[in-house]
Amino acid sequence: MKAELAPPIRINLNYLLPICLVATLGGLLFGYDTGVISGAIEPLTAKFGLSDFMKGWASGCVLMGCAAGVLLVGPLSDRFGRKLAMFLAALMFLVSAIGTAVPSDVVTFIIFRIIGGIGIGIASISTPMYIAEITPAHMRGRMVAVNQIAIVGGIAATAFINYFIAHAHGNPALPENQAWLIETGWRWMFGTGVVPAVLFALLLIPIPESPRWLIERRREDHARQILERVGGAEFAKTEFDSIKSALTHEQGTWSELFSSKLRLPLFIGVALAILQQVTGINVFMYFGATIFKTMSASAGVDAGLLTQIIINGACVLFTVIAIATVDKWGRRPLMLLGTVGMGVSLVAMGVMAQVGVDPAAVSHWMLIFIILYIACFGLSVGPVTWVILSEIFPTAVRGRALGLATFFLWTADYVVTQTFPMMDARGSWFVAHFNHAFPFYVYATFCVLLVLLVWRLVPETKGRSLEEIERHWSQRR
Ligand code: BGC
Repeated sequence: MKAELAPPIRINLNYLLPICLVATLGGLLFGYDTGVISGAIEPLTAKFGLSDFMKGWASGCVLMGCAAGVLLVGPLSDRFGRKLAMFLAALMFLVSAIGTAVPSDVVTFIIFRIIGGIGIGIASISTPMYIAEITPAHMRGRMVAVNQIAIVGGIAATAFINYFIAHAHGNPALPENQAWLIETGWRWMFGTGVVPAVLFALLLIPIPESPRWLIERRREDHARQILERVGGAEFAKTEFDSIKSALTHEQGTWSELFSSKLRLPLFIGVALAILQQVTGINVFMYFGATIFKTMSASAGVDAGLLTQIIINGACVLFTVIAIATVDKWGRRPLMLLGTVGMGVSLVAMGVMAQVGVDPAAVSHWMLIFIILYIACFGLSVGPVTWVILSEIFPTAVRGRALGLATFFLWTADYVVTQTFPMMDARGSWFVAHFNHAFPFYVYATFCVLLVLLVWRLVPETKGRSLEEIERHWSQRR
């Protein structure tokens, strides 16, 4: 007689997928809210007569909110649940969308941008956390990457929306239409955020709470019911037991995270998070239209906004490719190849900006190197950083470690966003000596550091279980 085989687990995708899609809307809003500034910053600068410092602050203040939101998300989602944390993020997106659309002074605008930033910070951790906690183990890795597609998709959506709003009153290059853009157009760019925010809030209502959180809160029957709907009785039993045993082992504390045992992964995680930002990606995401305008003769508002659409479209496309290859090629080769490509593109842009090639010729080459840079980022540093961050920390301290690394990521993003307009300002020391090339050289230097970090310190995590990765750190000490 044949031995009886355990029945295969049948995941109820009709139940699980819509839930994950709703949560992924959090990633989309995160992208939407960070990206919207790219089309709005120029009219905003004109409307409020912003200095270069204020231009950087108006763009970057949202990121200080993100850093604060990241610190809030742990206590919030532990105490009130993942669903409520996501709901709060949705409310903040909503309040911020309205508040940034109506102000008559820049201070009010900045206050509401920071509120939106707190929402992004909360969503940037609670969304992937919720998805990971409700998805069966074998699907988790892919879901982290899908969240990245949602983020870049959100940024890409803003590029389209900004473009259409800028055209609502005809060609935005004409002075009479520019006046509308400066007075009213940018308000619509922020205001349209109301739609995805309300959608996110409403769709969150029917989805279940994370079974893991329910078990932690001793609402075990409710957790069992959800797990049964996800994968049937057999799956629910195994998953329930494994969550329970993981919870008893999860005594991770801050002092454990800072112990000498975890010094190396913590250093790698924080360094990766910072280097993902200081290699300059968001300068292209937030100021792509401005950069293109500065660098080429042919570019008006229109060409700038179109460039932003191309940049964001390329980012989505190459992120999709990365997801297909990350488990085949591994994390290290993708990171090394991508970072070298980003560095080469940045140096090329810098040289073109510095020697002041004929602007008519520059526009084509500039666009080619921007796209090459974005393609390399989308293939590697964009998604793979998040994949590595979710893998290198031991389970017990993963939540805290991820929070800390993400805090540094947003802070670094803020520094880059604040300093770019200053380094790129006409009349500044940087432009006097390097034309508009200086920031590109700075970001290229950080690409070299990122290559060194990955080459010397980051282990290949492809195909290794989380326990094997944990052992790797104890052996390296
Ligand atoms: C980064 C974001 C960035 C996005 C762009 C993400 O991995 O963390 O800062 O805006 O990629 O694609």
